[in-house]
Amino acid sequence: MRNTISQLQERARNGEKLAMLTCYDASFAALSDAAGVDILLIGDSLGMVIQGHDSTLPVTMDQVEYHVACVARGSEKAFVLADLPFGAFQESKEQAFRNSARLMAAGANMVKLEGGAVMVETTRFLVDRGIPVCAHIGLTPQSVNVFGGYKVQGKTDTSADQLVKDAKALEAAGAGIVLMEAMPAGVAKRVTEAVKVPTIGIGAGIDVSGQVLVLHDMLDIYPGRKARFVKNFMLGAPSVKAAIEAYVKAVKAKTFPGPEHSF
Ligand code: KIV
Ligand code: NA
Repeated sequence: MRNTISQLQERARNGEKLAMLTCYDASFAALSDAAGVDILLIGDSLGMVIQGHDSTLPVTMDQVEYHVACVARGSEKAFVLADLPFGAFQESKEQAFRNSARLMAAGANMVKLEGGAVMVETTRFLVDRGIPVCAHIGLTPQSVNVFGGYKVQGKTDTSADQLVKDAKALEAAGAGIVLMEAMPAGVAKRVTEAVKVPTIGIGAGIDVSGQVLVLHDMLDIYPGRKARFVKNFMLGAPSVKAAIEAYVKAVKAKTFPGPEHSF
């Protein structure tokens, strides 16, 4: 039986930390499933770690749809979360629905879209029409050209307050999970206390409902630059499966991330 959003929300409410990991193919899906990963994210990070691009911007709907189908086939238990790629949802809520429906038909259980207040209306439109939504706030890599680089967000009082406001508005619009990327741990803690739905962090400290990492980062096989929040779980692990198990265990035991992985 596959995890449902209500089961995941209840487990998070009971204090269990949720372990999310990115996944792009059926073999890793089966391995991660067996290792106890709660949520498999078909991230548009696939543009970087699978395709070799230097950003997520070139990723297309056809490509995400293909990888979602691979991951859904390879897993039995994990909740399948799919990224809406750049250009697939920003134009209108109708465009977002059309493309989200494709990802749901391919096997996704929920879609993730980048953006704060600007995505409130789209989030409500999708949830009202049967598409569960994970919000993604903070460092939203599809906006790298607006930010002028991959920069930690929420460092000023005003921007931190805005993140809290955005998360509350997205939750009120129906978002079932709020993912936060690259922000001070204290800001992520404030957001987590402000919403009832689970929060998942990457570079957002320990005071969140769960963690996510990019598979190729935590296995130390991505040749590009490594962010501060990445930990190599292959160190000391006898196999890839053991590395993924160590990650799940560290998330559940609240031993990852440490202060050295946080902002
Ligand atoms: O695309 C991705 O892998 C992501 C995670 C980094 C959260 O969005
Ligand atoms: Na992404």
